Amino acid sequence: MDVFQAIQARREITKYKDDPISDDILSKVVDAGVFAPTGNNLPSKNLIVVKDRNTLDQLAETTPYMKWLMEAQAAIVVTGKPQVSKYWLQDASFACAYIWLEAVEVGLGSAFGAIYNAEDEEESVERENHARNLLGIPEECRVVAALGLGYPNETPKPKKHVPREEVVHYEAFKIY
Ligand SMILES: Cc1cc2nc3c(=O)[nH]c(=O)nc-3n(C[C@H](O)[C@H](O)[C@H](O)COP(=O)(O)O)c2cc1C
Repeated sequence: MDVFQAIQARREITKYKDDPISDDILSKVVDAGVFAPTGNNLPSKNLIVVKDRNTLDQLAETTPYMKWLMEAQAAIVVTGKPQVSKYWLQDASFACAYIWLEAVEVGLGSAFGAIYNAEDEEESVERENHARNLLGIPEECRVVAALGLGYPNETPKPKKHVPREEVVHYEAFKIY
């Protein structure tokens, strides 16, 4: 599978089989996040890999929109350090995207659970603190997202993409 095939095949998968993920496979997916680029090459991100069933079930309570973690075989929580880089959020987001694509390559399904909320600091802190307390994440780290992982137990219907011409502009932003 080449990169573009993985990009085309990627979907959010929220239903998983009970089959465990081997450490080799999981480690490859984690490495995709490790090798993702960062602004100014600064080390702003951390990845917390969770496999423990009880911890995954509690992590599922971080927001109302990640209940699928109760079925997932593993999660990767991605954090960023604002004191290390002004690009911490982009760095963490790149890592999430790379993780998601590598999951496709190795035959896993993945779902993305947003934790950090740029518009509501109070809500964000409350959510982040749930994951922070559960996983011992230091105060200096903002908790950006949790990715769930598992072998897919669903095949989503084909996706209807926004028409290309509504997204892509050549030479200048054209409003039709
Ligand atoms: C920034 C961002 C935040 C998201 N937050 C959540 C979330 O909290 N819970 C969830 O189940 N899915 C979440 N998703 C997944 C999207 O809902 C999903 O990717 C989108 O509906 C498109 O479907 P697809 O991934 O199958 O193409 C998020 C995706 C992105 C990019």
